[in-house]
Amino acid sequence: MKKIGLFHLILMLVLMISTTAPAANPFAIKLGVVTKPGAAQNIMAEKFKKRVEARSDGAYTVKIFHSASIGNETEILQQIQMGTIHMGVITGGPFDTFDPIVRVINYPFLFKDHDQADRILDGPLGDEILKSLETSGFKGLCFSENGFRNLTNSKRAVTGPDQVKGLKIRVMSSALHKAIWQALGANPTPMPWPIYTELEQGVIDGQENPLWVMEVYKFYEIQKFMTLTRHVYSPHINVASLNWFNGLPAADQTLITEAAVEAARFQRKDNREKNAARLALVREKGMQVADDPDVDAFRKRVAGLKDLDLYQAPRVQDLLIRMLE
Ligand code: PAF
Repeated sequence: MKKIGLFHLILMLVLMISTTAPAANPFAIKLGVVTKPGAAQNIMAEKFKKRVEARSDGAYTVKIFHSASIGNETEILQQIQMGTIHMGVITGGPFDTFDPIVRVINYPFLFKDHDQADRILDGPLGDEILKSLETSGFKGLCFSENGFRNLTNSKRAVTGPDQVKGLKIRVMSSALHKAIWQALGANPTPMPWPIYTELEQGVIDGQENPLWVMEVYKFYEIQKFMTLTRHVYSPHINVASLNWFNGLPAADQTLITEAAVEAARFQRKDNREKNAARLALVREKGMQVADDPDVDAFRKRVAGLKDLDLYQAPRVQDLLIRMLE
């Protein structure tokens, strides 16, 4: 342990004795992500680590467990709930089985651009979602960015929903994402991340993800067609174990929250600045990009999703109505 002071040492002993299944040392933060260095989550996690370690003068350390080394996103969330790891940077999709309110921000075609996404996620509606996560044992700190999701596949050019019919598309472990691709006529196949081998071997025809994924995971090697559908704005939710977080001194809670918010601001900007170069890269690598698909036709096909059971819980429906206003 570096410069840990007497206060933190005593507090550490108290917390270690008083919590039931804690990740041993409350000041050695364990943070899980399923992606590899260079990915959107990892940029967020690394920036957070730097800020927390510097600001706390070494009282806190952050160890990043990346590349799904401690499990897929569902498993990381379960470990955070149990308190065996402290934090995660998790995609909105898999979160919706833990708290259906998250389906609201993953609603297709909800946000038209980054400004609107930032305004809502950083405002009272975003706060309502973060607060709601407490009922399932998470402290929601803030949203960083995955990005607008786009379809890719190895079979054919897609400019409208008719060409999606029958494509075997990998989706995240999320009832909403499955429903979206069902409504579009695809054959959605839920699968945890990563999925390069499944795409390469043809177990699935396609997937949908933001532009950074194409670059970091080199999907241009195995996917010929890309369609800029931007069908879902996908946030990453930065979460902590509620018990762990609540047991920390108030000043440390502030330090951790501020470090996460600042890191998220940095990461979103960084992600957006790189998108043009990523698009140029996939074209240069030979992908065929449909950059002006029939978005209205896609939108019409998914318009009925808000009436599905997925959105019928009153608090979920209420928030969706307010978001759609
Ligand atoms: O498709 C997914 O599982 C997610 O978008 C990913 C790639 C893990 C990034 O959050």
